[in-house]
Amino acid sequence: MYHPLVGYSDRWRQMAKETVKTDNSYLADKVGLRVEHLPRKGEIRVLDCYAGTGRIWRAVKRRTGRDIKVLAMDKRPIGYHLPGDNLAWMSSINLSIFNVIDLDAYGVPYEQLKLLFDNGYKGIVFVTFIQSIWGRMPKGMLIDVGFTEEMLEKAPSLCSARGWEYFQEWLSIHGVSTIWDRSHSRKHYFCFAIR
Ligand SMILES: C[S@@+](CC[C@H](N)C(=O)[O-])C[C@H]1O[C@@H](n2cnc3c(N)ncnc32)[C@H](O)[C@@H]1O
Repeated sequence: MYHPLVGYSDRWRQMAKETVKTDNSYLADKVGLRVEHLPRKGEIRVLDCYAGTGRIWRAVKRRTGRDIKVLAMDKRPIGYHLPGDNLAWMSSINLSIFNVIDLDAYGVPYEQLKLLFDNGYKGIVFVTFIQSIWGRMPKGMLIDVGFTEEMLEKAPSLCSARGWEYFQEWLSIHGVSTIWDRSHSRKHYFCFAIR
């Protein structure tokens, strides 16, 4: 932490260094995961729902040289995006023209995944799942895996404590039998195929 007399503490400097290091390796993991699990052949049509500045797919195109078309959306007005909330776009466009959906979210893209399952989407889905230390998991997901309204009201943190495990259980309820995962503590980068 910063102190007016001593400046930044060693611990704080160390944390800053670690952050820089891990940020880079996480980008490498996100890109690596996509490169490994792209559809094997043919044109790749990606709906990039959390596109940001598009770093991931630019890197995937560079690494693979494959024919990859990306339709990008982002709620921040940056570059060539469909602007606004991805859920609104995802419910109004024909998802079946994309063979890849990218959900590189900051938290848990539960609503977006639910929309894909509810619409019978078929293809490859890349997901970033990040649960902060005190972060609650989406209520609908917890109910689906067996928690009751009463349990969620009485012990909300306890019900979310093993969020990643419950999330995987929720995926399996929706027919996902295998995921490929690169994890760092509470951050999980993974993908799965819906056939
Ligand atoms: C982790 S960054 C994505 C980085 C990006 N995949 C890349 O390759 O650079 C998450 C992005 O999602 C956007 N975002 C967050 N919630 C959103 C939402 N509900 N709809 C659309 N974009 C959203 C943020 O503005 C941010 O740019």
